[in-house]
Amino acid sequence: MSKINLIVTENYEEMSKKAAALFEELLKKKPNANLGLATGSTPIGLYKELIKLNKANEISFKDVKTYNLDEYCDLPKQHEQSYYTFMNENLFKHIDININNTHLPKGEGDSKINAKNYEDILKNIKIDIQLLGIGSNGHIGFNEPGTDFDIGVHEVQLTDNTIKDNARFFENDINKVPKKAITMGIKNILDVETIILVANGVNKAEAIKKVMSGKIDKNVPASALNLHKGKVYVIVDKEAASKL
Ligand code: F6R
Repeated sequence: MSKINLIVTENYEEMSKKAAALFEELLKKKPNANLGLATGSTPIGLYKELIKLNKANEISFKDVKTYNLDEYCDLPKQHEQSYYTFMNENLFKHIDININNTHLPKGEGDSKINAKNYEDILKNIKIDIQLLGIGSNGHIGFNEPGTDFDIGVHEVQLTDNTIKDNARFFENDINKVPKKAITMGIKNILDVETIILVANGVNKAEAIKKVMSGKIDKNVPASALNLHKGKVYVIVDKEAASKL
């Protein structure tokens, strides 16, 4: 059994609202919070909720700093599928954030240098809430199955499973999906104050079942959340909870 706080919602919309409420609570208490952010389809609804709350003047991002989990390697920053573009399109350009306060690992150029630079940035801060999605293979960030839990920011070779899953963003052509990425390591993720993992849909059900079993397994990177000392929330819709 896991000590993770599990919240099962009726649908994707409710999942997004529940997660947004946790961000709202933090930002009302701590307007200069450090937020760890994720990309992918799962958080889009949550980002829409945060944009709504910002436009309604319920929360402000004026003093917030953000740190994203990962970025594809060798994809130009301005590419429509880079995570830099994703964050601008789905969140940053719609809210009152100072763009200089947003951080993503750099995907272009020397990965070793880029990883060290991002690690140095993270070393000096504490993330208040880290948002995570989960891969159907249990990955978090781009920490693929088999990754050691004690490494920091690093370059990864994406697995065939992840390349296949992400082909939907690249005209369903696996050849167009970048093969490498740079990601926060599990060590960075476990260093944060509070973790919120969101998941919807039946293709996440098996991974969620493994995480919630409480068993720590290197081949299920998200199972590392059971080692976290702070709070962990797993917010899932009925379908992602269907194997629990
Ligand atoms: C994205 C990330 C990935 C995704 C995961 C799920 O920054 O780190 O771990 O969260 O691949 O992606 P979606 O939400 O597209 O199913």
